[in-house]
Amino acid sequence: MKESFFEGKDFGKEKFKALMPEYYPPKYKKYILEETKLLKQKIIGANRILEAGVGIGRLVPILAPRVKELVGIDNADLMLKKSKQVAKEFKNVRIVKENLENLSKLFPPKYFDFSLCLWNTIGNVKDEVKVLRELKKITKKSIFITVYHKGTLQDRKEWYKRAGVTISKIDTGKEIFYSKSGLKSKSYSLKDIQKLARAAQLQVGEFKILGGVILWVELVHS
Ligand SMILES: C[S@@+](CC[C@H](N)C(=O)[O-])C[C@H]1O[C@@H](n2cnc3c(N)ncnc32)[C@H](O)[C@@H]1O
Repeated sequence: MKESFFEGKDFGKEKFKALMPEYYPPKYKKYILEETKLLKQKIIGANRILEAGVGIGRLVPILAPRVKELVGIDNADLMLKKSKQVAKEFKNVRIVKENLENLSKLFPPKYFDFSLCLWNTIGNVKDEVKVLRELKKITKKSIFITVYHKGTLQDRKEWYKRAGVTISKIDTGKEIFYSKSGLKSKSYSLKDIQKLARAAQLQVGEFKILGGVILWVELVHS
């Protein structure tokens, strides 16, 4: 079944609130502010940046003026339509439809200085290791990821409620949320990320908790 969450099923004709920080509870607003600040510092001097899972293009206006080339990848038609509208303003941005499991078919080795896989995109994919391996092939320096941090079940419940997402099931042991519209959204401890990184022959560099709810990790070549 094609996942319909990122095709807008929960929101109908309304805005895609799930990717719009103005609708978030305070801790998640704080996460977004902290993430944006970190990104601005980390990408200084970069030529090419990839955003894997570009969504509605939330970060395009922040990243595009700071780099020579920005490529956003997504496989959901609604997300591609929205991010392409945002990208029209910038000559150095390309939005491409592709599955994150096939990135190395599109780009030569080490094409990007940095790759970004943010706001729990890695927690939405079928096979995290496969995606990390692909990112590793096409990234010269670091891969920055942000994921739901384990131990934040109550905060996540509040977030989905505020964003207007109907949750059909929660695996409270593994801290995985399932939406009625087909979203499966995982969460991670630092150990979980270290394990995934090792499997992809990457290693954890810097890490931080943002807003008390999100884990930010820099992955580097091992
Ligand atoms: C949680 S959103 C994050 C969007 C954006 N990075 C942000 O911070 O606003 C995840 C995005 O990844 C996309 N996505 C999930 N799995 C994907 C896959 N296998 N291939 C390509 N895009 C994918 C979804 O369609 C969605 O737009």
